[in-house]
Amino acid sequence: MLITNLALGLLLSSFTDASSVLPLVTKGRDILDSNGNVFHYESTNWPGHQEAMIPEGLQHASIEEIVSWIPKFGLNSVRLTFAIEMIDDIYSNNPNQSLGIILLNALGEANGTRVLHQVLEHNPQFTKESTRLEIWDAVAQELGKQNVILHLDNHVSKAFWCCGENDGNGWFGEEYFDVDKWIRGWSYITKHAKRNWPTFSSVGLRNELRNAAKAEPVDWYTWYVHMTAAADAVHEADPEALIFFSGLSYDTYIDPIPLGKTLNGTKGTLTTGKTAVFVPENFAWKDKIVLEIHKYDFEATQDDCKSFKSKWYQKGFQALDASNPATKYLFPMVLSEWGFIHNGTYWNQTTYNKCVIEMVQEWQFSWMQWELSGSFYLQTRPNRTPQTLQGPEEFWGLLNYNWSDVRDPVTVENSLDKMIAALK
Ligand SMILES: *[C@@H]1O[C@H](CO)[C@@H](O)[C@H](O)[C@H]1NC(C)=O
Ligand SMILES: *[C@@H]1O[C@H](CO)[C@@H](O)[C@H](O)[C@H]1NC(C)=O
Ligand SMILES: *[C@@H]1O[C@H](CO)[C@@H](O)[C@H](O)[C@H]1NC(C)=O
Ligand SMILES: *[C@@H]1O[C@H](CO)[C@@H](O)[C@H](O)[C@H]1NC(C)=O
Ligand SMILES: *[C@@H]1O[C@H](CO)[C@@H](O)[C@H](O)[C@H]1NC(C)=O
Ligand SMILES: *[C@@H]1O[C@H](CO)[C@@H](O)[C@H](O)[C@H]1NC(C)=O
Repeated sequence: MLITNLALGLLLSSFTDASSVLPLVTKGRDILDSNGNVFHYESTNWPGHQEAMIPEGLQHASIEEIVSWIPKFGLNSVRLTFAIEMIDDIYSNNPNQSLGIILLNALGEANGTRVLHQVLEHNPQFTKESTRLEIWDAVAQELGKQNVILHLDNHVSKAFWCCGENDGNGWFGEEYFDVDKWIRGWSYITKHAKRNWPTFSSVGLRNELRNAAKAEPVDWYTWYVHMTAAADAVHEADPEALIFFSGLSYDTYIDPIPLGKTLNGTKGTLTTGKTAVFVPENFAWKDKIVLEIHKYDFEATQDDCKSFKSKWYQKGFQALDASNPATKYLFPMVLSEWGFIHNGTYWNQTTYNKCVIEMVQEWQFSWMQWELSGSFYLQTRPNRTPQTLQGPEEFWGLLNYNWSDVRDPVTVENSLDKMIAALK
């Protein structure tokens, strides 16, 4: 069954020419391709924002092999995640940006050397002098070659696992989240992507904004000020790129934007009494705005789908619903992260998988599965003991530990394949 689906994915992908659908624009609740047809991102996430700041998996397979999984799964696009620290290093001429040094610095002498040799063995076009940006360019070139549309997501400022409360990356002005560097980073990488990455289509301004004790006031007014400034910078660097706006509380809600609510500051802070309203017509990038939302199953839901969908709808799906009198502005919505453990049973242990699929069927929106990776070079999670693990496995990954095969065909058949079918 899976073989059939994988073969079908290959067959279908050979009929889609990414270069002929780009650039994308938005119209009301839809993303349209360059032929005026409705376009849906059917994606997986491929992280490149952790300590080494290059896309994961290169010690296990070639870039060409990894990219080939995306059409084989029947997907048309990928959400690549990056850290602003990568761009800061370019600006400061940091001498530590080459493959040899980044792996050594991340993994230590013994493992760094071993992993470097593995990366070079699988990817002989690189040397230990290859820079991070050269590696990103090679990934983007290969995505272009295999017709995979590239969505670039700013996941973090400082490079490590996202996301925890008060981890320094969560809100504007927090320890690592320097707003000026973030905007500078977006200008740099958008300009670079426009020139060099053939299937670059869109950006996600910031992943999972969340509460932070030591940062600017956590409110929608502050969101408005900084998100619109970053969007201006992206639009100036590439007027064709779609711009994804994420909501608050780990991007679990964004309803004030389609409802056209007043975006308030916070009493007793620098934003006391400040307000703004996000009016799309006011922006040069008015036909580039996409809202993004995340949905996981941390509460292990057993809700019936009717109730699951109506609760979730309230979090921002009004953006897709012209028939709702409360909807002030229509926008396309992208579920830019969803997923769960691929162990053959979880997909049917709660109602999450079933209800997310039903939601896609009902509302017809783009989605991005979390995630492709079967394992990571390294992972630091501030709230875990031990904080740092080398070579940890990703049990939620579509691929197995060594990125050589599908981790769990039963899960793919019952989740990813049904998400694809839901959009037909
Ligand atoms: C470069 O890496 C070395 C360790 O390999 C470190 O001591 C040094 O501080 C780093 N330099 C910068 C500018 O980050
Ligand atoms: C902002 O404050 C106004 C007035 O209290 C309120 O109606 C509105 O819902 C608030 N906005 C949000 C996003 O909560
Ligand atoms: C899959 O993961 C879930 C959640 O951790 C667990 O309850 C279940 O027993 C696992 N199934 C298998 C086959 O290990
Ligand atoms: C999924 O789980 C439900 C309830 O736990 C069960 O009735 C159903 O048979 C399962 N479906 C499959 C395909 O395993
Ligand atoms: C080296 O890598 C292996 C496998 O990835 C890991 O088990 C081991 O803990 C690492 N060594 C150190 C010193 O972290
Ligand atoms: C894949 O990784 C596992 C460890 O999880 C190892 O036992 C196996 O030999 C590896 N397979 C290949 C083809 O490298």
